[in-house]
Amino acid sequence: MTYNDVRKVFLDFFESKGHKIVPSASLIPNDPTLLFTVAGMVPWKGILQGTEPAFAPRVADVQKCIRAGGKHNDLDEVGFDGRHHTFFEMVGNWSFGDYFKEGAIEMSWELLTKVLKLDPARLRVTTHETDEESTEIWRKVAGKEAIRLGDKDNWWSAGDTGPCGPCTEIFYDFGDSFENEDDRWVEIWNDVFMQYDRDANGNLTPLPKQNVDTGGGLERWVAMMQGKTDNYDTDLFVNLIHATEDVVGVKKTDENTASFKVIVDHLRAVGFAIADGVIPSNTDRGYVIRRILRRAMRHGQILGHRGALLSRLYPALITEMGDVYPELGREEKRVVEIIQNEENAFADMLQNGMKLLDNEIPKVHNGVLSGDVAFKLFDTYGFPLDLTQMILRDKNMSVDTDGFERAMAEQKERSRANTKGTRVLWESLSDLPATDDSTKYAPVADLESRVLAILRDGEFVQSANAGDAVEVALDKTNFYGTQGGQVGDSGDLIKGTDVVMNVVEAGRVDNIVIHKGNLVAPLSVGDVVKTAINTNVRQQTARAHTATHLLQSALRHVLNEDVEQRGSKVSPDSVRFDFSFGRAMTAEEKQAVEDLVNKWIAADMPVAHEEMSLDMARQRGAMALFGEKYGDTVKVITAGDVSCELCGGTHVYHTGEIIRAHVNKEKSISSGIRRITMSVGTLAE
Ligand code: ALA
Repeated sequence: MTYNDVRKVFLDFFESKGHKIVPSASLIPNDPTLLFTVAGMVPWKGILQGTEPAFAPRVADVQKCIRAGGKHNDLDEVGFDGRHHTFFEMVGNWSFGDYFKEGAIEMSWELLTKVLKLDPARLRVTTHETDEESTEIWRKVAGKEAIRLGDKDNWWSAGDTGPCGPCTEIFYDFGDSFENEDDRWVEIWNDVFMQYDRDANGNLTPLPKQNVDTGGGLERWVAMMQGKTDNYDTDLFVNLIHATEDVVGVKKTDENTASFKVIVDHLRAVGFAIADGVIPSNTDRGYVIRRILRRAMRHGQILGHRGALLSRLYPALITEMGDVYPELGREEKRVVEIIQNEENAFADMLQNGMKLLDNEIPKVHNGVLSGDVAFKLFDTYGFPLDLTQMILRDKNMSVDTDGFERAMAEQKERSRANTKGTRVLWESLSDLPATDDSTKYAPVADLESRVLAILRDGEFVQSANAGDAVEVALDKTNFYGTQGGQVGDSGDLIKGTDVVMNVVEAGRVDNIVIHKGNLVAPLSVGDVVKTAINTNVRQQTARAHTATHLLQSALRHVLNEDVEQRGSKVSPDSVRFDFSFGRAMTAEEKQAVEDLVNKWIAADMPVAHEEMSLDMARQRGAMALFGEKYGDTVKVITAGDVSCELCGGTHVYHTGEIIRAHVNKEKSISSGIRRITMSVGTLAE
């Protein structure tokens, strides 16, 4: 079955079940909350919400989607596996108040097992933990016992607001060549039961009708039908990869496969987006497309290619997909011109970077270019590290990669500290006192705080109303504001006995804690409020943070003592940890790290939270992060005898509170730096 056959089988099946077949809508959504059409349901949001009439009770289509730069973002995954794309096609069927759970599940099962003739033993299903009905339907229809999961896995929405509901997902077994269960079992279809509308305050209102929204990645379906474990090995991609080989003059190998995947993926995203009217620019979706285009160019550079790339590949895209998407051919002249302009601008940037490099090369000592210069090339001129290394290799020189990573980490720290966009405004309030957040580690229920400033729509106001999105500074707070890689608290501000604001996240601008969220009642400067943090989320974040310390220690035990932290993100029940290490971890090493962390959790070791002088902490051998600045008195977190770190985050008091840890993924993020992700708590269970 070819790519186009699979697409047709899907549409024919739903047509035979009374669905109206419609063409794909544009990638540019008619919805200000989204950068791109991220799912098949985006064009139907109004119908699902009941604000637009349904033009048919049953509809099916294959929708062009881009998931990059927004809440649904797969950009960073592209190239590292065979499953992710920035541009992809989503097969979907809809019921607008017609069939519901039973009809949807029956048809999904029939198409997969009767028409596509997949072996039922290779299919697994999940349902939402509260959804008894779907679970029972799966037993009846397929004799399958669904795995029950929570909101994170089995609740779906396109954005933060709008239609949403519980979902049931179908996974396909891609075979035992994968050592990791998550790689082996791949989600191929998601049936969402759209029952609610979520407003800006997070409130759920039942929708006028019960609807069905389903979605499956066509690329994964094709891989499944062609017996491939990698989407990029299927017919359409193989053809695009051959076209790329011709243009760059290099064959795809095991070593350079990531660059080929990135180029053909990005060709589709850039080509389709521009055909639909996106213009590369420095803002919003134009910026995302510019970045994607440049990323493809960089991978061209890594393959040794210079000059135009995507503009030369675009005709191959028309050959592959132009029959189904006639806009590709219709817009050819315009698209190619726009891509060429971008490619020329990129070439200029490269030339300027080369000038800088030519100036620096004579100053190089011992054949090693400083990390700062390499970073400037990367940051200002768009040179990826591998490109600089490649150029220097010809001159028998290398780059101080540690220095490069350090400069990168410093810059990340600077930008992370930036409260997006509004930082400058907050900094302009020079007489605003530092927030007293001394109760953040042990929140005090009756702490009374005074509202000092309210920022709304880029302006400081004396009062704001229910429904306004605002940022608020207080004199005191229990909230932990984002810091040191740990995400900030969420919760409520309470006036009298009523909630006045839902705080989505507490951020930080220098020493001021910024409460960001939405008002549910009027609020004025001078009002007295109580700061009630969401204790559930706080506990989830605390266990993730302590688990991060255990993870660091376990990596040092299992790999070696030189492993160093290079960045981290601690979120509720989830950990992302970047560290220096020169190669991929083996499956055994990952397992050993997970086992060690779980052993320490099971030992339920006490976790001491202490304050002491920096000298004292040094004597204790506490680990500190490069680049972090500490006052004279520091906080030291000690977990049993396995970890002792300087840390200003929130932590549990016994390792047993972490419940469990599960290593999800480990991958390279740049030369010599690895990223490992881990779930903890009930999520890991
Ligand atoms: N809208 C659902 C999704 O994108 C089907 O997963």
